[in-house]
Amino acid sequence: MSTTVPPVDINNVQGDILAGIPKKFEATLFFNIDDNVTAFRKNLTKVIPFITTTTQAQGIRASILKHKQEAAARGAQADLVPVVGVTLAFSQFGLKKIGINDHIGDSLFENGQLADAQALNDKGTIKDNKFTPDWLPVFKNGIHGVFVIASDSQSSIEAKITEIKSKLGTTIHEVFRVNGNVRPKEEAGHEHFGFLDGISNPAVIDFDTHPLPGQGNPISPGFILLGRQDDPNRTSRPSWAVEGSIMAFRYLSQLVPEFNTFLKKNPIQIGEMTPEQGSEFLGARLMGRWKSGAPLDLAPLKDDPELAADRQRNNNFDYSFPEDIQTQDRCPFAAHVRKTNPRNDLGNRVERNRIIRRGIPFGPEVTPTEAQQGKTTHDRGLLFRCYQSVLGNGFHFIQQSWANNEGFPFGKPADQTPGFDPIIGQAPDPNSRVRVVGGTNPQNATANLSLPTDWVVSKGGEYFFAPSISALKTTFATA
Ligand code: HEM
Repeated sequence: MSTTVPPVDINNVQGDILAGIPKKFEATLFFNIDDNVTAFRKNLTKVIPFITTTTQAQGIRASILKHKQEAAARGAQADLVPVVGVTLAFSQFGLKKIGINDHIGDSLFENGQLADAQALNDKGTIKDNKFTPDWLPVFKNGIHGVFVIASDSQSSIEAKITEIKSKLGTTIHEVFRVNGNVRPKEEAGHEHFGFLDGISNPAVIDFDTHPLPGQGNPISPGFILLGRQDDPNRTSRPSWAVEGSIMAFRYLSQLVPEFNTFLKKNPIQIGEMTPEQGSEFLGARLMGRWKSGAPLDLAPLKDDPELAADRQRNNNFDYSFPEDIQTQDRCPFAAHVRKTNPRNDLGNRVERNRIIRRGIPFGPEVTPTEAQQGKTTHDRGLLFRCYQSVLGNGFHFIQQSWANNEGFPFGKPADQTPGFDPIIGQAPDPNSRVRVVGGTNPQNATANLSLPTDWVVSKGGEYFFAPSISALKTTFATA
């Protein structure tokens, strides 16, 4: 007998998960709860009104759109709409500290990301059979919780943090804060390697009523939210976990000058391409999209900024165009976007492995000295954050079983091993980080390219649980 699962209540789900909070700046503030847990839970009641719901996030999006349309009608440039959105999530250490001992039904969450670092192939050392990743110390010390504060201005973020802290008093202390920001001018929306990000996220049933072409079949909400339709572990979730979501946070440094030097030294040489164009082409082959965002599957030889800007077209492909998923003429099997969402390579049966990504770049722009020397001296990268209901189907699976797996996607011609995801794939050997990637040269599908180093370096992270608003009120906070 099948039971009817209630639809998603968008007043109950935190706004970052399904809708996303528009942002120019974002602070990720990690905290620990101090010993007076009763006082923390009491004070938390006063912070819950700050947490942004999905309905509120949708409202913010609608008002920004309206503002832009009105400005366009006047022929004016729209100024920024003031926005502050807050997300709150707890690690397994945080749940235990609060005294919530039920299992949410996800062992990777329960064990924490530190215990998962070796399986993810993060870099580190093994001594006496114990693996210690090369992470920032803060991520090795057991963080209890995280606030993510998103806004159009850094000063509004600071004001909101002051407000949150004044409500919580001395019941928490900040253990680490990292500020992210959208990159300047024409790089806005692009991650630090220069590629437009934030294009492809799945549409979710009950929420996205007008999916864009290429978003794929809208996925069941239970692949993102615990306890909702098609959550694989639905029946074993505690009632307070329903409509929460698991957030995987990763602090990923990017070695931009080193990446650019590699592209410069290894241009693809075909036809009339200049070395500069050949380097740009190699970058696009590694990512699966041009820097503009145009997908290689639709624009295989030349960038197409018009296509990139057209939301009706820029995600509308599935690697079977014109009819064959067995060639990498258009897009390498190993390209980052193909590895992480293989679309028709798996017969479009990837719903349970979709994640919702909400990242933001951090760190300064590359300085002229760094560019000239080809060497990173200022830490920069991506504060990666994604949501799913099961880590073993979402982030963990994508990183371990797809990006780090040379044979994936499977079933390709025997002489064309796909190789590692060149952007985020990590080799298992802590001493040799060399990764081999196939298919980067469209004129020689069987040729391999050796990547000498990782250009994305994990400095750690944690798995958090973003509870529903009702759970925050009734299970986490006390009157
Ligand atoms: C610094 C690290 C990373 C960089 C520079 C990066 C960059 C990008 C870019 C430029 C896109 C294309 C834009 C878009 O479709 O939104 C993309 C898509 C994507 N990335 Fe990443 N990414 C990084 C880390 C990760 C990680 C850690 C994962 C998961 C393990 C991941 C999963 C995805 C997925 C699922 C997509 C969408 C693919 C699609 O649906 O076509 N990325 N990434």
